[in-house]
Amino acid sequence: MQQGKKRILTGDRPTGNLHLGHYVGSLANRVRLQEEFDSFIIIADVQALTTHWEKDENLTRDVYGIALDYLAAGLNPEQSTIFVQSMIPEIHELTMYYSMFTSVNVLRHNPTVKSEAAQHGFKDMTYGFLGYPVSQAADISIFKAHLVPVGEDQVPHIELARKIVRRFNDLYYPVLVEPEALVGDVPRLVGLDGKAKMSKSLNNAIFLSDTPEQVQLKIRNAVTDPARIRKTDPGHPEICTVFEYHKVFNSDAATEIEADCRSGSIGCVACKTRLAQQLNAMLEPMRERREKYLQAPGQLKEILMEGTRKAHSVAQETMVEVRQAMNINYFDHKIPL
Ligand code: TRP
Repeated sequence: MQQGKKRILTGDRPTGNLHLGHYVGSLANRVRLQEEFDSFIIIADVQALTTHWEKDENLTRDVYGIALDYLAAGLNPEQSTIFVQSMIPEIHELTMYYSMFTSVNVLRHNPTVKSEAAQHGFKDMTYGFLGYPVSQAADISIFKAHLVPVGEDQVPHIELARKIVRRFNDLYYPVLVEPEALVGDVPRLVGLDGKAKMSKSLNNAIFLSDTPEQVQLKIRNAVTDPARIRKTDPGHPEICTVFEYHKVFNSDAATEIEADCRSGSIGCVACKTRLAQQLNAMLEPMRERREKYLQAPGQLKEILMEGTRKAHSVAQETMVEVRQAMNINYFDHKIPL
């Protein structure tokens, strides 16, 4: 561990491009905290298999794609260790040990597992899907992470990880650290269609990789106050998706825009143009970083390989302690016969 620094572990399933909801829910926190904390970012490809277990032609692209999103968003590979879950076999070993004392009923009642199962139409969950929060507890605790910056939907998993760590420390020996969740300022960003959540599968997202033109077009088509027909009609910002985004991404101007909307002195077209400009200004440095890595893909691979190597060595150290705590270290003993 870097001297004196507490550790962060967080990450995502590589199942497609990251969007603004990810950014304000968790990514912005990761970027902000990477200097102060020793940061580990997991690309959870095995967890992705819990819902995408069929042979996936896009897996490689998604793994590199999410790494690219991370770097574009501002994760600095000097400060954040980005790595691939499947390449750390110790995580799977720890998952197995944890699953010995984790109750199936507790997993069944996990609200995020339940809503994801419903979303995917799983009537009969697979063993791997039901158990993924156990594997996530291993992801976090094998790095002895103190803090887990995540979106709100992940909080039940961090709660379970805390319970598992406490149980482990109690049953065997206190070698593990109880992690804490850190939820972003905007735990749930509304979608462009006004639906509760921005999400790739709902097709209502602005991606970090969108071009300026795509951003403009998506904002132009975003849902606003349906009662507002003419520009001079007084608007209702409290029910307007575009105003929701102004509050998040253009907070300095939000009060002014709110007043102008209510009085009918700014129309939806102008209001949307201002938002698109603001978003594009925020995304521009990300585009530049993305372009830099696209020009040098070997560097991207190097960053992932180096991050994975470093993460592996930390995981190996923890597992020596874990096995010792559980007495699974037979060759270190004199034969007790
Ligand atoms: N469950 C997270 C998601 O769906 C991904 C994830 C896997 C994760 N392991 C983790 C998040 C550990 C935080 C910590 O996006």
